[in-house]
Amino acid sequence: MTYENILVENKNGTQFITINRASKLNALNKQTLEELNHAFNASFNDQEVRSILLTGDGEKAFVAGADIAEFANFNIEEGRKLSELGHTSVFNLIENSPKPVIAAINGFALGGGLELAMCCHIRVASENAKMGLPEVGLGVIPGYGGTQRLAQLVGKGRAFEMIMTADMISAHEAHRIGLVNHVTTLDNLIAKCEELIAKIHTKSTTAIAHAIKSVNAGFVDGINGYEVEINEFGKCFGTADFKEGTTAFVEKRKPNF
Ligand code: COA
Repeated sequence: MTYENILVENKNGTQFITINRASKLNALNKQTLEELNHAFNASFNDQEVRSILLTGDGEKAFVAGADIAEFANFNIEEGRKLSELGHTSVFNLIENSPKPVIAAINGFALGGGLELAMCCHIRVASENAKMGLPEVGLGVIPGYGGTQRLAQLVGKGRAFEMIMTADMISAHEAHRIGLVNHVTTLDNLIAKCEELIAKIHTKSTTAIAHAIKSVNAGFVDGINGYEVEINEFGKCFGTADFKEGTTAFVEKRKPNF
């Protein structure tokens, strides 16, 4: 697939996926969502990729939301399908990535943009970033997982306030309430993500994949996360990484995963 709205580049085992539609503040249109779906699936299947960094092009926006122009004339059924397709093809796909996904929030992360950041495993924001779910101001609600993931990350009360007021919050406020893991200068944003990634790359990729599955299981209705953890824990014992990790410990050396 030839990408028009995203850039994809592997740097030292990290797949940099950059949304590249700066003239529209990287708003997510249908084409961009299709490209993200393709790029993430390709990254999962690529042995050279150990982690994924998702960011937006330019200094103004991570993603300013779903492309409002594209859905302004939709009817009920088209609206429902837009949301459903987004959930399955991009947002749930990223959340359930077997490889760690870090969002580098380099500016506005609004609506679908904040929802995109929220389905990543770790979020790092630059000081200029502004985050919010402005949908009720457009007569609609967050439809790419925002009503669920915001409440999971910051609690129901804060989520209700952000959704009902549609206010944007600063990067520092997002950090204070636990919406982002770190805040740094825009110049240092990628370096901060790379610092985290470098640590993660020294650990077992297979164990990390099992951990992602276990953590996510606790947020799926009808699934017992503890049971999933028991099974995923057991599976680790059959992996080469487990042998290497425990042997390295006994031999008093660093593991080579
Ligand atoms: N969908 C479609 N186009 C968008 C967009 C979106 N979510 N967000 C920004 N754009 C486009 C603008 O229409 C404009 O395009 P144009 O130059 O062809 O007119 C361009 O991006 C630049 O945006 P602009 O509004 O001129 O920049 P600004 O600095 O004045 O304002 C924002 C920045 C983020 C405050 C403003 O763009 C905004 O409110 N965007 C919508 C945010 C939103 O409601 N997202 C949730 C969608 S469900």
